[in-house]
Amino acid sequence: GKVAVLMGGTSAERPVSLMSGQGVLEALRSQGVDAHPFDPAERDLGDLKREGFARCFIALHGRGGEDGTVQGALELLGIPYTGSGVMASAVAMDKVMTKRVWLAEGLPTPQWRRLGAGQHSLEAIRTVPDALGLPVIVKPAREGSSFGVTRVNGYSDMKEAVSLAAQYDPDVLCEEFIIGDEVTCPVLGEGDAAVALPVVRIQAPDGNYDFEHKYVSNDTRYLLPSGLPEAEEREIQRIVVQAYRLLGCRGWGRADLMIRASDRKPFLLEMNTSPGMTSHSLVPKSAAHAGMSYEALCLHLLAQASL
Ligand code: DAL
Ligand code: MG
Repeated sequence: GKVAVLMGGTSAERPVSLMSGQGVLEALRSQGVDAHPFDPAERDLGDLKREGFARCFIALHGRGGEDGTVQGALELLGIPYTGSGVMASAVAMDKVMTKRVWLAEGLPTPQWRRLGAGQHSLEAIRTVPDALGLPVIVKPAREGSSFGVTRVNGYSDMKEAVSLAAQYDPDVLCEEFIIGDEVTCPVLGEGDAAVALPVVRIQAPDGNYDFEHKYVSNDTRYLLPSGLPEAEEREIQRIVVQAYRLLGCRGWGRADLMIRASDRKPFLLEMNTSPGMTSHSLVPKSAAHAGMSYEALCLHLLAQASL
C-alpha cells in the first residue's frame, strides 16, 4: 500500500527533516515503494487515513515529530509507523528525563543541573559552574541538531547561554563538560533483539560539532572504523544497547556519547529516536560500514513499522 514519508514539521529542525525525508523518499521509491512526502506542518494528519496510507516512515526531527505526539496521533489513526512508540519518543526527547532513567539503572551520564522556567535568574545561573565546574555545556532540554547549545568557558558567559537555550525550550539543561572523544552509535531492533551498529568517532574542528559542522561544511571527520580499541568499542555498544532498551526504544535510534580522556570512561549524552538521514548523517554511514546500504536501511525500518 501507499507509504507516507513524514517530513518537515514545525520544530527548529525542520530544514534537517526536509533533507532526511527527501533522502528516504528517493530511497524507498528507488526500491519500488509507493512513497509520498507528507508534511504535518501543512497537512492534517487525518488526511493520512482519508487518503488510504497504509504505513508512515517518520523522518521528522524534534518536537512535534520525534517527541511522541505524532506517534500518538498515528496510534489513534491506526496507521503503523517506523521507530519508537509514544513513551520512548517522549522520554528520549527530554534529555533530563532521559538522564533520570539512565541514572536510576546505573548507566553513566554527565552530571547536570536543570534550570526550569522561572529559574533563569543570574543568581540561579551562577550556582551552575560552582556545581559542575567549567567549561559547562548549556542546551535546551528538548531540541536537536545543536540548536541553542553553547560551551560556556566563564561565569560571565552563562547568562547569554541560558537565554539562548531558553529561546528553544524553557527547560534548560546545564551539563558537565567531558573532555575526550566524541562518538555516536546507532541501534536497530527492539528489546532482546536490539543490536548496535559500528561506533562512529567524530572529529569536528576545535571539537565543535555544531549545526554548521553537522550539515553544512565538509571539515568534520567521521572515523569508521572508529579506531577505538576493540574492547572499548564493544563496551560502548553494550552500554548503548542497554540505554536503548531501558528507554523502551524500538525500530532504531542513535546514542551520542563522550569518552573521557583521563580514564576512557564512556558517558551517555542522549538518545535520538528519529536520527538524521541526510547526506551528512551518521546512522547511514555506520550502517553502510556494516554492509547495509541507505536503501536497505530504509526498507528494513519500513518493514518493522508497527503500532
Ligand atoms: N537530531 C538530528 C536529526 C540527529 O540526531 O541526527
Ligand atoms: Mg539529538
